[in-house]
Parts: sequence; C-alpha cells; structure tokens
Amino acid sequence: MLADEEMRKMQKKICPSLMCCDIFRLREQLRIFEEEKIEYLHVDVMDGEFVPNYTLGTDFVRQIRRATDIPLDIHLMIREPERKISFFELREGDLVSVHAESTVHLQRALQQVRNQGARPLVALNPATPLSALDYVLEDVDGVLLMTVNPGYAGQKLVPQTLGKITDCRRLLDGRGYPEMMLEVDGNVSLENALLMKQAGADLFVAGSSSIFKNDLKEGIRAMRRVLAS
Ligand code: DX5
Ligand code: ZN
Repeated sequence: MLADEEMRKMQKKICPSLMCCDIFRLREQLRIFEEEKIEYLHVDVMDGEFVPNYTLGTDFVRQIRRATDIPLDIHLMIREPERKISFFELREGDLVSVHAESTVHLQRALQQVRNQGARPLVALNPATPLSALDYVLEDVDGVLLMTVNPGYAGQKLVPQTLGKITDCRRLLDGRGYPEMMLEVDGNVSLENALLMKQAGADLFVAGSSSIFKNDLKEGIRAMRRVLAS
C-alpha cells in the first residue's frame, strides 16, 4: 500500500484554464491537451454578479463537448447556482465547483451536481474561513481554494492562501478525508505550484501564470516536472 504522500504524488493533475486559451487556436490547443494527457479542462463560468466579469457559458461547454472527450472541471462563479446547474450539459466524471459564498442553499446545490452525475467540489474565496466546509464535507469529492480573488486571469497570489492550503489539507486528513481532492486556482505559476504542492494541493488550475505564457506543450511539460519533483 503506497503511503499517502506517494499516492498524492501520483495524483497531481493539471487543469488548463480555458478562459486563457487563444480562441482562434482552440482546436489546436485541445489536441495538445489530449497529446499531453491533460486530466481536466477548467471552465470558468462568471455571471458579472458574483464576480465582476463575464467569461464562458453553457454554449461554450456544449461546443467543447463536441471537440474533445477530456472531462471538464466547471468552476461556477455565479449567484444562486442551484437555479442554474441544470443549464449545463454535465457528464459523469466532470468536476463542478460551487462557491460557498454564492448561495444560501449550498448543500442543495452540491446535491444537485451529484444528482446530475458529476462530482461536486466546494469552492472558497481567499477570505472565507475553512469552517465553511464543516457541514458539507460528506457532500463533496473535493475543495477548490481560490488563491486569487476570482474574476480575472493575470492576478497575483493572495499570500496567506498558501497557509490556508496547509490548514485545509490538515483539516481534511484530520476529519478522515485523506483522499479528498484539493484544487488551487489563481496565479499558479511554476514557483507557486511547487509551494502549493508542498502545502497539500493536488489539482492545479494552469492559466496565464504558467502554461499559456509561451509554448503550450513546453509549458505543460514544465508544470509536469514541477509537480513530479
Ligand atoms: C480567476 C480564474 C483563474 C484564472 C487562472 O478567477 O478562475 O482560473 O483563469 O489564470 P491565472 O494563471 O492568470 O491566474
Ligand atoms: Zn477558476
């Protein structure tokens, strides 16, 4: 039986943030993701209310489905997600993150994700305490910790979120959930990815801070080397 740490090292996953893709080269970039065995495609959904921006939506998800079989990692940065989850074409194996701050019906929203056949994660903004996890851990397969304030690519890490990753992994292990996914999202540069990995993260949203900076294939391989180190 592999030690938890060994198991975790095997489970590090890269989730390219599709809002950072070059829309005019998307098909080519999807081929690269397939060749590089990317595990999930991160789809940021924003409503201009929960966060001060709009990004990708239901039609984008429908189109992506036609272009690749890579599972999606849908990040809902929208108010009242429980009313809108059914708008999305979800598949078994997809991840769907619901922000604890976005609804007064968090547990209901997480259950809906599960009932639609996808895997629910609960997402927390940088300032939201880990106590928000207390009564939903049994409803989720993972936690998404924002390491920037959500809404835009290209932002800088909120420094105290590194300690929050450590605290969260310790909380999950302590509550009997060592296999729970811990995803990090925002300014996941190669340098920050190493610190986040050491703090206990295992899913890494890769955007303008890393794989999209220069050559995409090389960027993915550089991230793989950091996560395997
Ligand atoms: C921020 C988004 C991030 C972003 C990642 O709200 O959720 O996923 O696309 O891009 P960088 O690496 O620029 O933070
Ligand atoms: Zn995101």
